[in-house]
Amino acid sequence: MYNSKIIGLGKYLPEQVVTNHDLSEMMDTNDAWIQERTGIKERRWIRKGTEDTSAVMGAKAARVAIERSGLKPDDIDFIVFATMTPDYYFPGCGVQIQDMLGMQTVGALDIRNQCSGFVYALSVADQYIKTGMYRNILVVGAEFHSNGLDKSTRGRSVTVIFGDGAGACVLSREKNLNKGILSTHLHSEGKYAEKLTVKSPSIKHWIPEILSSKEEDLSYFPYMDGTFVFKNAVVRFSEVIREGLLKNKLDKEDIDLLIPHQANLRIAQFIQKKFGLHDDQVFNNIMKYGNTTAASVIIALTEAWEQGLIKENTNVVLAAFGSGFTWGSVIIKW
Ligand code: UT7
Repeated sequence: MYNSKIIGLGKYLPEQVVTNHDLSEMMDTNDAWIQERTGIKERRWIRKGTEDTSAVMGAKAARVAIERSGLKPDDIDFIVFATMTPDYYFPGCGVQIQDMLGMQTVGALDIRNQCSGFVYALSVADQYIKTGMYRNILVVGAEFHSNGLDKSTRGRSVTVIFGDGAGACVLSREKNLNKGILSTHLHSEGKYAEKLTVKSPSIKHWIPEILSSKEEDLSYFPYMDGTFVFKNAVVRFSEVIREGLLKNKLDKEDIDLLIPHQANLRIAQFIQKKFGLHDDQVFNNIMKYGNTTAASVIIALTEAWEQGLIKENTNVVLAAFGSGFTWGSVIIKW
């Protein structure tokens, strides 16, 4: 048995900054409402006509992560790619970046777990390394939301939240079983699948049906029962963080850095208070990037590392909750 450890981190954000004020010119919203309810000041949206997509941004983040790991693309044994906004209906983005990075014909797996996508992806990669099957795995989270959002007032409660971006890490074999990823914890509750969803196009409700519908069919826009999701999020985040701490015989005082999925600053603040953590024990960057779903945890982890907040032996807790519902946590001794 081995542990796995992160040996390289990278991120990529498209350059176009969309402020709350910019949104107020598209729909009936305002900076005060968005900041008060979500903490978001601005987000990045891919500029139309540029090359960026989930796969392209994922590849850009991955190049940085691989370079920082000291490895070459040829050293990667497997790819796990988390996204809910893939470039194609099929195949997934994983195979695209295998090609974009000029890698060997290694396996590539896509993960569809929305806001929990990166935590699930990390867990899957961790198992492959623990068993000895692979030595170096590229784990990517990337989202291209902006092209699929309802930018009219009708969609405002969802649209103002989401941003585009990508993050990636290289996970590698660690012989010391007290270092690296100590444990991962995954959950789902499918009875709430329709509380946060994009229902179509799906093979059950394919494009000709949508186009020929007599009534306005907006099922291709994201739908969220925001209050219900919020209430479940704060409970599940807390549970799954506690589960991870218990498993490793850690107390909340042992958390050096909690990196929650960037869903809403109010959710992160609620969890911070619940666990009695100081401001410097919880990392947030939702103010700058909004909610980037499967990319949010890995972008935040990368940024925290770039800012020098993560060093040898830092106890890092990752936690996520989102559509499915799905949720999970990862406990890391850096
Ligand atoms: O990442 C996956 C997990 N996602 C989450 O965890 C998100 C969880 N939910 C949330 O973050 C919050 O529910 C939202 C930020 C989405 C919404 O905040 P809220 O405090 O729950 O607001 P609300 O939906 O209850 O809406 C309150 C009011 C409504 O007006 P009335 O009916 O009170 O007159 C909305 O129409 O705010 C209105 N509203 C807006 N006003 C200005 C909704 N969206 C906007 C907007 N700008 N963008």
